[in-house]
Amino acid sequence: ALERTFSIVKPDAVAKNVIGQIYARFEEAGLKIVASKMLQLSREQAEGFYAVHKERPFYNDLVSFMISGPVMVQVLEGENAILKNREVMGATNPAEAEAGTIRKDFADSIDENAVHGSDAPETAAEEIKFFFNDDELCERLR
Ligand code: CMP
Repeated sequence: ALERTFSIVKPDAVAKNVIGQIYARFEEAGLKIVASKMLQLSREQAEGFYAVHKERPFYNDLVSFMISGPVMVQVLEGENAILKNREVMGATNPAEAEAGTIRKDFADSIDENAVHGSDAPETAAEEIKFFFNDDELCERLR
């Protein structure tokens, strides 16, 4: 089915100046960017976005990292976009990521792993709403 998914280029990848190389991976996989912006997350935004992880031991480090510099947030559209984006990203831990994936090629550790992507349709819808108003999502008719 035609889906939309939410994606973040994290501070480590922005600092490495590989935003364009990561966007190229999305495009090569047939994913279309239908919304995109750069922003510096506030601590409150990062805590809210990752609230599901707040009891996990890595939560505080995760929030500190996500506010350490600007991020790109984007909405990707395509056939099976949620799974396709997860395949393009590779495993959460870059040490376990397959060759040719974004995390294998651009990430250094499980904590600084270059990208985030929604894991299911419900979370995709929630995460898109967290960062974008409806009028910021474009229709790509061709
Ligand atoms: P992300 O998809 O952004 O969701 C939560 C993030 O926490 C995850 O990517 C990792 O960067 C980070 N993280 C650190 N340690 C772990 C862990 N043990 N399991 C899952 N995520 C972790």
